[in-house]
Amino acid sequence: MFPKVIFSFLILTLTTASAPGANFTYNGFDAAELWLDGIAEITPNGLLRLTDTRKLAMGHAFHPSPLRFRNSTTGNALSFSTSFIFAIIPEYQDVFGHGLAFVLAHSVNLSYALPSQYLGLFNPNNSDSSNQIVAIEFDTNMNPEFGDIDNNHVGIDVSSPKSINSSHAAYFTNDNGAGFKNLSLASSKPIQAWIEYSHMDGLLNVTLAPIDVTKPGVPCLSSNVNLSTLISDYMYVGFSSSVGTFKTSHYILGWSFKLSGKAQALDLSHLPSLPRVGSKSTLESWKIGLLIILAIVLLLIIITGTIFLVKRENKFREVFEDWELEYGPQRFCYKDLFLATMGFKDQQLLGAGGFGRVYKGVLPKTDIQLAVKQVSHESRQGMREFIAEIVSIGRLRHRNLVQLLGYCRRKGELLLVYEFMPNGSLDKFLFNKSKLMLSWGQRFQIIKGVASALYYLHEGWEKVVVHRDIKASNILLDDQMNGRLGDFGLARLYDHGTDPQTTHVVGTLGYLAPDLTKTGKATTSTDVFAFGGFLLEVACGRRPIEIRASEEEVVLVDKVLQCWKAGTILEARDPNLGNEYIVEEMEMVLKLGLLCSHPNSKSRPPMRLVMRILERDAPLPEMSEDGWDGEISAMGKEGFNDIGTSDSSLLSMSVCSASTMESVLLTGR
Ligand SMILES: *[C@@H]1O[C@H](CO)[C@@H](O)[C@H](O)[C@H]1NC(C)=O
Ligand SMILES: *[C@@H]1O[C@H](CO)[C@@H](O)[C@H](O)[C@H]1NC(C)=O
Ligand SMILES: *[C@@H]1O[C@H](CO)[C@@H](O)[C@H](O)[C@H]1NC(C)=O
Ligand SMILES: *[C@@H]1O[C@H](CO)[C@@H](O)[C@H](O)[C@H]1NC(C)=O
Ligand SMILES: *[C@@H]1O[C@H](CO)[C@@H](O)[C@H](O)[C@H]1NC(C)=O
Ligand SMILES: *[C@@H]1O[C@H](CO)[C@@H](O)[C@H](O)[C@H]1NC(C)=O
Ligand SMILES: *[C@@H]1O[C@H](CO)[C@@H](O)[C@H](O)[C@H]1NC(C)=O
Ligand SMILES: *[C@@H]1O[C@H](CO)[C@@H](O)[C@H](O)[C@H]1NC(C)=O
Repeated sequence: MFPKVIFSFLILTLTTASAPGANFTYNGFDAAELWLDGIAEITPNGLLRLTDTRKLAMGHAFHPSPLRFRNSTTGNALSFSTSFIFAIIPEYQDVFGHGLAFVLAHSVNLSYALPSQYLGLFNPNNSDSSNQIVAIEFDTNMNPEFGDIDNNHVGIDVSSPKSINSSHAAYFTNDNGAGFKNLSLASSKPIQAWIEYSHMDGLLNVTLAPIDVTKPGVPCLSSNVNLSTLISDYMYVGFSSSVGTFKTSHYILGWSFKLSGKAQALDLSHLPSLPRVGSKSTLESWKIGLLIILAIVLLLIIITGTIFLVKRENKFREVFEDWELEYGPQRFCYKDLFLATMGFKDQQLLGAGGFGRVYKGVLPKTDIQLAVKQVSHESRQGMREFIAEIVSIGRLRHRNLVQLLGYCRRKGELLLVYEFMPNGSLDKFLFNKSKLMLSWGQRFQIIKGVASALYYLHEGWEKVVVHRDIKASNILLDDQMNGRLGDFGLARLYDHGTDPQTTHVVGTLGYLAPDLTKTGKATTSTDVFAFGGFLLEVACGRRPIEIRASEEEVVLVDKVLQCWKAGTILEARDPNLGNEYIVEEMEMVLKLGLLCSHPNSKSRPPMRLVMRILERDAPLPEMSEDGWDGEISAMGKEGFNDIGTSDSSLLSMSVCSASTMESVLLTGR
């Protein structure tokens, strides 16, 4: 009795399971109780994921109880209908595998099955013969050993991976079979599939369509299959999927099934959404876009930064050559000079002479005042010798010399840095009425100072230095009104880089010794000549050449000479001094000026003697009136009238001479 009850209970359960019209519908799998195997799982948002990105893996999902597939009365297989939505998402666009299958299986013990092309259902030995399997494969790989038609097909497999019939995955957009459209199974997009079997005509239909397309009237695959011979009474329904070496995720979004009837349509609006793969790519493209923008911005920053730095670099770019290494200590950094002179602003301009503009500057860190002379010089020829001389001159030390502190070189530009002389140049005091008039005492002090500086240059140092450009405007006054000789050697710069056949005689009109203009050779004697001009300038308070003066007085030497010849040399003195001068000193200075300005270089005293005369250690040599019909007077009358300015301007005469000029530094004295 008791066993009978159990038996009838079993019958009951079986009948219930196989009740006609058995049906289920999953719009998402949150609440589904599926039998899962392999790596299959239900994701938190309700997707059935058969495989994920793991390699050589498989996943199975089955309706938990088997369904009675056979009409107990007729013994024939029952008709069924199912529809589901799947998505195959490969890691890479072009390589993927191996697809999924809708499965009717006698047993869910698929332990014998292999992944990859075996779809998690079969193996090479066909040892699944114990199981009965009918699978509708959605195959994304082409396996020639199974007779696959391509890598994107639908096939019917009966206990073997070799399909009994298959068809390229496609759908028809109208009911008469026209409007054929290919459908890529592994497109990452959801695809709806309908599988219908009718036991009446033994036809198994498979229809596909993108999710946004209603079910096409014409199936993709319609094949004659007599399920009655292929299935057992009870069959499990579900899915299988497998991956090979190329990571591919297989998802089922929804599933509806019904035996002996039409499966309920899926509610597309309630399906779980796929992992943001479609939108992941847009997310990624968004990220990539952002990255590109970032990269561009970064690039722009780098470019502008570089331009800024290069500009800055250019602004402060200097010319530096190997041979200058030894002059390191004498070299100034352009940036420092630039900052010191406030960028060579006009308000810092101290003056502009024949050789360039002079700016006042204050070194930022040390507050040391300097004068920066900007000498434009395009030629690099001779620059080395010139710098050597300049640096060498910079080593001269005398309290009546303007100290050269160093230099800096840029393209086409040379900067000479001197100590700053607060009272400016002497000529301003002598010829500029607005300035304070110098007393005779101050003048005599200046004269003695300049004489001692020149004596030092000529004889007091290891080398003979010819100044070449002695004149009132090159005498600077320090804070104690001491005369300081500046700008020595600069004239030399203009000797270089010129045609070797032509030598430029450089000096200032009115200070040029006749022998210098003749031979083009600067000597200590030509310096003495210029010094003579300077003495007369200081004593007479006028320039050596005064165009506006009456004809006899254009040339200062001529005027003083006339006075001397007439025995009234004091008449030539600066009238502005009045009687505020010492007669002996004035007379001595005027006579000495004449003596130094002698046209015959041999008649000029050396600086050693000049010093002694000024110090009253030696008497003034007697001058004869002979030899004074020199070239100065002649030149003054002929050529100088053309120069329409009373300013002592730089004279640069081209004198043809085959001999190259001697160096400023005459070695071996
Ligand atoms: C089985 O077949 C009989 C006769 O054709 C039919 O009446 C019955 O409804 C069928 N049962 C099912 C479950 O389809
Ligand atoms: C689905 O099956 C249940 C019984 O399990 C039944 O009540 C329901 O009517 C069926 N629905 C459809 C659409 O066949
Ligand atoms: C599955 O089948 C194999 C034999 O094919 C058997 O050894 C194994 O125990 C079965 N597993 C289950 C869970 O029934
Ligand atoms: C297939 O059969 C061979 C021998 O017949 C056996 O060595 C092999 O392991 C089997 N393979 C599978 C996957 O069962
Ligand atoms: C569809 O795909 C097949 C095979 O890949 C190809 O031969 C056919 O031209 C394609 N048809 C369309 C409309 O793209
Ligand atoms: C299967 O497709 C064929 C051809 O379109 C059609 O005649 C038949 O009715 C279909 N069967 C089912 C069960 O939909
Ligand atoms: C299927 O096979 C069974 C048994 O062999 C047969 O009775 C039935 O008529 C067949 N069905 C069709 C549609 O051919
Ligand atoms: C195989 O499928 C094609 C396409 O659906 C169909 O035309 C053909 O009749 C099928 N072959 C068999 C034997 O059913």
